[in-house]
Amino acid sequence: MKKTIMVTGNLGYIGSTMVPILTSAGYEVTGYDIGYYDDCYLIEAKQQLKKQIKKDVREVVPEDLTGIDCIIHLAGLSNDPLGEFNAALTEDINYKATIRFAEAAKKAGVKRFLYTSSQSVYGISDSKKDVDEEGAINPITAYAKSKWQSECDLKKFCSDDFVITYLRPATAYGASPNLRTDIVFNAFVAYSFTNKLIEIKSDGTPWRPMSHIQDITAAFIACIEAPSELIKNQVFNVGTPDNNYTVRQLAEAAQKCVAGTDLTFTGEHTDPRSYRVSSKKILTVLKDYYQPQWDIEKGGADLMSFYQSVKFDSAAFNGYKTVRLKALKKRIADGSLDENLRVK
Ligand SMILES: NC(=O)c1ccc[n+]([C@@H]2O[C@H](COP(=O)([O-])OP(=O)(O)OC[C@H]3O[C@@H](n4cnc5c(N)ncnc54)[C@H](O)[C@@H]3O)[C@@H](O)[C@H]2O)c1
Repeated sequence: MKKTIMVTGNLGYIGSTMVPILTSAGYEVTGYDIGYYDDCYLIEAKQQLKKQIKKDVREVVPEDLTGIDCIIHLAGLSNDPLGEFNAALTEDINYKATIRFAEAAKKAGVKRFLYTSSQSVYGISDSKKDVDEEGAINPITAYAKSKWQSECDLKKFCSDDFVITYLRPATAYGASPNLRTDIVFNAFVAYSFTNKLIEIKSDGTPWRPMSHIQDITAAFIACIEAPSELIKNQVFNVGTPDNNYTVRQLAEAAQKCVAGTDLTFTGEHTDPRSYRVSSKKILTVLKDYYQPQWDIEKGGADLMSFYQSVKFDSAAFNGYKTVRLKALKKRIADGSLDENLRVK
């Protein structure tokens, strides 16, 4: 029988790419999303869903989750600038609502809960060695703290009949109908495409682990399919064998996407964030289920085709559609969301 998967945040950047992959792999998918970025789509992308629940995660009840086998919990305020915009809201949506969701899921008889954490929980780390899942935790921002608190408190709900797994994806990249350019590689390729100029304010030496959104999706599918003893209460970094790139490598790969693009490193800011992450655990423990397919060269070429197909330009790049903080501020200003991000 087809497994029924709920994807929360299914209308966002990762979700809107993940759902078509899940449905073509034969899963029945129910979406749960408030739709903060419904007017941000660069192309129309109708999802083949069993059902779309348009609701705030802060209001979930067990009845919403009846008949679901597995939940992929993506919904949340998705980066550091959003977290700093209103730290209390980040705690409410990313942490408290996650715990409420897990409680409701357990009551509803859901079997698996796959939580999307983040590598931001490692904070500033020693860039000389690759940090693994046992590495020191040092969540600095409100966003990182909300992810770490969620991981800690979710553990209390994990049991043989309600298996919880914590996935920590590297910074995502790749084309999506609901694209984000507030993440590094998508932005670099967008600079190449729209301006033929990539200007880096640091010297380009900081390290950034990266993961393609289709590989992130593959990691979640691996956790749907793997036997529970391999994933129960397990933390997995999500990436590839070579997922660590310097900012310079990312910029040079983006530069190669468009002939004649200039690249400058002004060095005016030193960037204290530099970290390397190991994805060895997922690549070993889930090797029969997870085989990542992407690197930044392939992802850059794919992003280029996407930017061409949607005629992406500077106006789009500077607007609100691909930058989450701008999109939310616009909705507060136009009155469709209140200050607490409740739909009016
Ligand atoms: N993109 C990355 O680089 C990255 C890396 C690691 C982890 N993650 C995590 O993956 C998840 C998805 O990220 P994304 O890049 O797709 O983000 P996104 O901002 O594009 O999508 C988030 C989705 O969640 C929904 N949402 C937010 N608050 C909600 C609420 N209160 N109720 C219901 N729905 C709500 C939004 O409407 C949106 O569709 C997030 O949890 C993020 O923290 C992302």
